Amino acid sequence: MANERTLSIIKPDAVAGNHIGAIYDRFEKAGLKIVAAKMLQLDDEKAGGFYAEHAERPFYNDLKSFMMSGPVLVSVLEGENAIAKHREIMGATNPKDAAEGTIRADFASSIDENAVHGSDSAESAAREISYFFNEDEVCARTR
Ligand code: TYD
Ligand code: MG
Repeated sequence: MANERTLSIIKPDAVAGNHIGAIYDRFEKAGLKIVAAKMLQLDDEKAGGFYAEHAERPFYNDLKSFMMSGPVLVSVLEGENAIAKHREIMGATNPKDAAEGTIRADFASSIDENAVHGSDSAESAAREISYFFNEDEVCARTR
């Protein structure tokens, strides 16, 4: 298994619900290390660019509005198999389909307000990390 980095976003609904600590606890208990973090208020351009792959989807404008509805916490997580491990503890996109004990099962209210984002591949992770962080903002964790 490879040591990987992945991008996490705690979305406006979960920040508003005061779930940052509970969600970070799950990352850390799963063995993922937080190597970068910042809170941001996204604007239309930054939210739209992040979700550019969905620009033609019917939910795109609502998704952008939701992502701008309050601050988000963006983080880089590092660990063995981090991309898939993070997706697994997040649970399915629609919380109705999310396995018991996953973040979305416990903290998301609907498919369009689903608490967290996680990169879905190595290519996405590289693009998404550099979308939010300069290289010198991601720390080396040797312990
Ligand atoms: P997607 O990349 O398919 O899901 P994931 O976040 O699990 O990678 O979709 C991106 C986001 O778009 C998703 O988290 C919530 C929103 N979305 C909707 O609002 N409605 C939908 O039908 C879908 C598929 C996604
Ligand atoms: Mg996705």
